Amino acid sequence: MPTPTDRVRRAERSSIRIMFDLAERHDGDLVRLEVGEPDFDTPAHVIDAAARAARDGETHYTSNAGLPACRRAISDMLATEHGVHHDPDEIVVTTGGMEALHLTALATVSPGEELVVPGPTWPNYATQATLADGTFREVPMPAENGFDLEADRVIEAMGEDTAAVILTTPSNPTGRVFDPEECRAVVEAAADHDAYVVADEVYLGLTYDGEPEGIAAYTGHPDHVLTVGSCSKTYAMTGWRIGWLAGDPILIDEVAKIRESTTACTSSLAQHAAIAALTGPQEPIEEMYEAFRRRRDLVVDRVAAIDGLSCPRPEGAFYAFLDPGIDDDSLSVAKHLLEEHGVVLAPGDGFGEAGRGRLRLSFANSEERLHEGFDRLEAGLASY
Ligand SMILES: Cc1ncc(COP(=O)(O)O)c(C=O)c1O
Repeated sequence: MPTPTDRVRRAERSSIRIMFDLAERHDGDLVRLEVGEPDFDTPAHVIDAAARAARDGETHYTSNAGLPACRRAISDMLATEHGVHHDPDEIVVTTGGMEALHLTALATVSPGEELVVPGPTWPNYATQATLADGTFREVPMPAENGFDLEADRVIEAMGEDTAAVILTTPSNPTGRVFDPEECRAVVEAAADHDAYVVADEVYLGLTYDGEPEGIAAYTGHPDHVLTVGSCSKTYAMTGWRIGWLAGDPILIDEVAKIRESTTACTSSLAQHAAIAALTGPQEPIEEMYEAFRRRRDLVVDRVAAIDGLSCPRPEGAFYAFLDPGIDDDSLSVAKHLLEEHGVVLAPGDGFGEAGRGRLRLSFANSEERLHEGFDRLEAGLASY
């Protein structure tokens, strides 16, 4: 019998998915704090724009790189909100930040080369490296500093085979915003190695402490930074599947070329929705942002009030990376919390070596459900 290739068999299923599937099969009342998506619906004016576009016949393929108006809207938003300057022709519209990252791995990593990522880290990067026949290399950051980026450790791990370094800020899973000085040092080293830094900034619009400045805005080598962004998190548009990649025009052209054989282009209707999200009224987006900020404060207070529980302060995104102080694998702890106490968290082991023993809590849920979730978590940890 024919068999699937090694490269797809080597790709691992994430432990977040394991918890998601267990939760889906459970019939009790669960507080779901494992999912990484806003609980809000897409703002009405965005939905209206997509519906209007559909009725007006905007239902055809677009160019591989995306509608000029969509690329322009992204270019303007990046400049005004994140201080990152790219002409529209240095931007490709993608089917979520996910596709931008996958295509970036294909376009930057040659077989055998490395994708270097400070840990703990979002698990999909490892799969994307594997699918590019490359190697994924996690460089664990020290827990005692909240897993913040320490450039020296990343630079030490870089070598001839380093094709790219991914910096995710704000971070999934810790919610930390990396220090610009540390990011700058990594970009400098990448430039010395003829490597790229992929700035995964899909959570940048959800920065609570400090300014949402993109890495390309403050480095001395913006030409070595590939910026990935998305409408998913900031605009509550996960299901529309729309994101972008901005950077070196040579690489952008290559990515636009290979899209012809992957998705050809991003849904025309999603592109019209994105134009409305990026250029239309921002009040609904600000309201969601404020709600996330209040929840962040709630999470910080509740964690501080539980004996033996701690987490690095989330400065962005909607995650808290909890240290329950239990010396056991976090999948067992997460299963206990689900089965015995009805609260679902993502096991930290799923975020690499540095995440061992931790639990990721997503605060993309109402304040009332978060309080209920913390009550259950407190009881569950006490009884483990
Ligand atoms: C760190 C990070 N990057 C990229 C993505 C991709 O998001 P999307 O494809 O919805 O834009 C996610 C989604 O969870 C994420 O957490």
